[in-house]
Amino acid sequence: MSTSSPPSSAAPVSVLGLGMMGTALATALLDAGHPVTVWNRTPAKAGPLVARGALPAGTPADAVAANPLVVLCLLGNTHVQEVFDTLGDAVAGRTVVNLTNGTPAQARELAAWASEHGAHYIDGGIMAVPQMIAGPHAYVVYSGDEQAFRTHRPTLAAFGGTKWTGTDPGLAAVHDLALLTGMYGMVIGVLQAFALVRTENIPATGFAEPLVAWIQAMLTGVPEWAGAVDSGEHLTDVSSIAVNQSAFPNFLTAYRDQGISGELFEPFQALLDRAMAEGHASDGLSRLADLLRAN
Ligand SMILES: NC(=O)c1ccc[n+]([C@@H]2O[C@H](COP(=O)([O-])OP(=O)(O)OC[C@H]3O[C@@H](n4cnc5c(N)ncnc54)[C@H](OP(=O)(O)O)[C@@H]3O)[C@@H](O)[C@H]2O)c1
Repeated sequence: MSTSSPPSSAAPVSVLGLGMMGTALATALLDAGHPVTVWNRTPAKAGPLVARGALPAGTPADAVAANPLVVLCLLGNTHVQEVFDTLGDAVAGRTVVNLTNGTPAQARELAAWASEHGAHYIDGGIMAVPQMIAGPHAYVVYSGDEQAFRTHRPTLAAFGGTKWTGTDPGLAAVHDLALLTGMYGMVIGVLQAFALVRTENIPATGFAEPLVAWIQAMLTGVPEWAGAVDSGEHLTDVSSIAVNQSAFPNFLTAYRDQGISGELFEPFQALLDRAMAEGHASDGLSRLADLLRAN
């Protein structure tokens, strides 16, 4: 092997999309010793990566032609499809790993497009913010072409953990969106709590500690809820829908009285009311997951 060739463990990679996340991904690959080719719609964003040794590509097709493994991280999957439409034959034989946030249906459509054009498609959802990439808590959920995933898993490990979710290309997006749903539920609650305490000039900074401790204590019940959701057995000796439905108007009234909006929480009252009307008074809150199904 010539001294200028990269070691086999440092496979070359093309990264398309150099926003906050794409830049973090390309940086992690460079840090792990991979030769990296980069493309971004706004070329100037490639500058710092090129200064660190990345090769700039003039077009998406040039970037895709450069390496067998191609990582995309654009704003949305409509932009990914727009980029795909410019590729022509360049994508044939390539493995495309799309780490753009999107829906399961979008992932399946992009996988079908890739298959029609002779490419291997892996979809992924990044469970990290850019600053966490390559750190101990970062991981990415993947689905799609399993053989291609196995081949490129050592390279993808530069980003963090690699969690395989299945060969249906939509599965990574399901896991990604479900995990983020839990996060946004927490975000909504935290923001409403801060808005409420601020109506009495209680500093949010001082309230953060008891809020975190309370949320963490409540999270210990999640596995039990999961068991109830899977089994359909929702009877509880913890906290019934009846007691929650009875208390919840206090929240909405207090928000109004204190001069803050209840718009994030009003739908929850409606769901509790429906659960009561449908005869689930004695069940735990886990019953609500069943009621969310459209049938
Ligand atoms: N940031 C996070 O914490 C995080 C965490 C997990 C997942 N993600 C996901 O990662 C993806 C990228 O996020 P980000 O934070 O890197 O966003 P960002 O900083 O706003 O970067 C967006 C990227 O998309 C490109 N882009 C936008 N419209 C385009 C178009 N029409 N054609 C081609 N390229 C286009 C931008 O190019 P220009 O530079 O030319 O505008 C840029 O490279 C998103 O799907 C996001 O949901 C982000």
